[in-house]
Amino acid sequence: MQERLKELQAEALAKVEQASDLKELNEIRVSYLGKKGPITEVLKGMGKLSSEERPLMGALANEVRDAISSAIERKHNSLEEAAIQQKLASESIDVTLPGRPVKTGNHHPLTRIVEEIEDLFIGMGYAVAEGPEVEKDYYNFEALNLPKGHPARDMQDSFYITEEVLLRTHTSPVQARTLEKHQGKGPVKIICPGKVYRRDNDDATHSHQFMQIEGLVVDENIRMSDLKGTLEVFAKKMFGEDREIRLRPSFFPFTEPSVEMDITCKICGGKGCSVCKGTGWIEILGAGMVHPNVLEMAGFDSKKYTGFAFGMGPERIAMLKYGIDDIRHFYTNDIRFLKQFSVTE
Ligand code: PHE
Repeated sequence: MQERLKELQAEALAKVEQASDLKELNEIRVSYLGKKGPITEVLKGMGKLSSEERPLMGALANEVRDAISSAIERKHNSLEEAAIQQKLASESIDVTLPGRPVKTGNHHPLTRIVEEIEDLFIGMGYAVAEGPEVEKDYYNFEALNLPKGHPARDMQDSFYITEEVLLRTHTSPVQARTLEKHQGKGPVKIICPGKVYRRDNDDATHSHQFMQIEGLVVDENIRMSDLKGTLEVFAKKMFGEDREIRLRPSFFPFTEPSVEMDITCKICGGKGCSVCKGTGWIEILGAGMVHPNVLEMAGFDSKKYTGFAFGMGPERIAMLKYGIDDIRHFYTNDIRFLKQFSVTE
């Protein structure tokens, strides 16, 4: 019996030593130390021993059991430690790896241009006004000296919703609305950026939906020279101090006189190229002195008050400023196009 116990101990210790993982170790523990294990089996034969031998054998059995279980415990600890070491090694972080860049968005080029123009005019004391995109025929046309049937309505092909309601074709209705709100009292000094809609076929320079920025100043003694000075400041701030402006006579029903403003072409320096179509000048905006009829319809005394107005297209300005050759780029949201206007990269 004594021998059998020693044998079992040696066998068990050898197996423990070779165990390669915690699962295997547990199986060894169950098979040697469990109730159905060989040690229990050996001890069952104790009844046959003499009373002197029995305590000795009992003590030996306990010794064997302790030796096996402490060997198991040691092995358990070292296997656990190895597992932790392995996990640490496989999960180690290489602190010398470069970080992953955080992707940031950027303002749309049109938003940038609009905000730049807004800032410029806010700096000159203008307020920013807004108006509805779904507009009454009255504000879009009639209050701007374009009665029903006026031939100049054809200049702006419109999306009508009903006979009296349409998508605004320009931001000028905000002029009429702002004047009406002031109830005949100046000064009025606003700019109004916003979307406008026209029944145009989309191509490189036309879009059925685009933006405009309207400007309106009404007060006593506002003169054409104030308009010219304002536009000159705007053009130089926006396109560079070396730019010249010129005003050409034009026609808008809501301004009299009406003008169009050109700036000198930067690409050819005024000599003439394909962008300025050989003229050396590039058209930027429409403007003029507010027509007395527009003032009167909104409740202003046109003998006391005068004013000027202008309207420009931010797309066109952005295209000239950034060298963009197709207006559709602004609306197709190609990330490769938009990313070029990031200030952070
Ligand atoms: N509303 C005009 C257009 O869309 C532009 C303009 C605005 C002209 C204000 C004169 C004064 O063509």
